[in-house]
Amino acid sequence: MSSVLACDRLTVRYGGKTAVDRVTLDVPAGRMVGVIGANGAGKSTLINALAGWSRGRPEVEGEVVLGGEPVSGLSAYRRAHRGLLLVPEGKGIFGGLTVEENMALVRTPADTRDRHAFGEDEIFALFPRLRERLHHKGTALSGGERQMLAISCALRAAPRVLLLDEPSVGLAPRLVLELLKRMRQLVDLGLSILLVEQNVRAALSVVDDVYLLERGTVVAHGPAEEMREDKRVVEAYLGRSDIEIAEPGSPHP
Ligand SMILES: Nc1ncnc2c1ncn2[C@@H]1O[C@H](COP(=O)(O)OP(=O)(O)OP(=O)(O)O)[C@@H](O)[C@H]1O
Ligand SMILES: [Mg+2]
Repeated sequence: MSSVLACDRLTVRYGGKTAVDRVTLDVPAGRMVGVIGANGAGKSTLINALAGWSRGRPEVEGEVVLGGEPVSGLSAYRRAHRGLLLVPEGKGIFGGLTVEENMALVRTPADTRDRHAFGEDEIFALFPRLRERLHHKGTALSGGERQMLAISCALRAAPRVLLLDEPSVGLAPRLVLELLKRMRQLVDLGLSILLVEQNVRAALSVVDDVYLLERGTVVAHGPAEEMREDKRVVEAYLGRSDIEIAEPGSPHP
């Protein structure tokens, strides 16, 4: 399967401290790939480095390849222009501008071969709520609405691959799976997505492949069906496994 986004031994250091350590990862075209891990594991640092973003001044090493071409030397702006679009943790919308104004600021690149710039109708079909909130300012939106707006702005810019950093943050629990399922619909239509998600159970129900990150390193990787059974994932994120509950040699009830 052809790869839309990949990195090879990507390493990010803040001062002397390594936050992402030789991560090799692949997002195949038309797939949804999840990155899970505890707080501080390096998920945001990784996804930001892929997009060429940074908080602070990290030292970044390793190769990032978009659609077969190396982009490691390009700025975040240039990578976005080529279709590597990040919806960051802080969501990156303008609070002082309305939904309509935020969306109008997005410029679709002239050359969008193999890419699709979502039009207003498609966006409102995906997020009907945004049409109702069209004239409301960013600051007046709920967490979920801000998230929808940030994703919509990225979709208007014709993503080749969409990078989402914790889209479930600030959403009511019942909305989390709904949003992730809508992202899955986009993948089923051909988009490629890299999803960083703290809601592991919900993420595992929508993604194809999963990377488990611990202290900046990939410690497990595989198809979602397999990772759902992985002892480390089960113990840390899905509750204790049956294997652990039934101690070897313990009497049967
Ligand atoms: N700008 C920065 N300067 C220095 N250290 C940083 C900076 N940003 C992140 N770090 C450190 O890098 C490590 C990884 O942080 P990161 O935010 O990538 O983790 P995360 O997995 O996204 O966590 P969370 O689940 O809380 O969002 C942490 O130890 C963090 O303290
Ligand atoms: Mg983070």
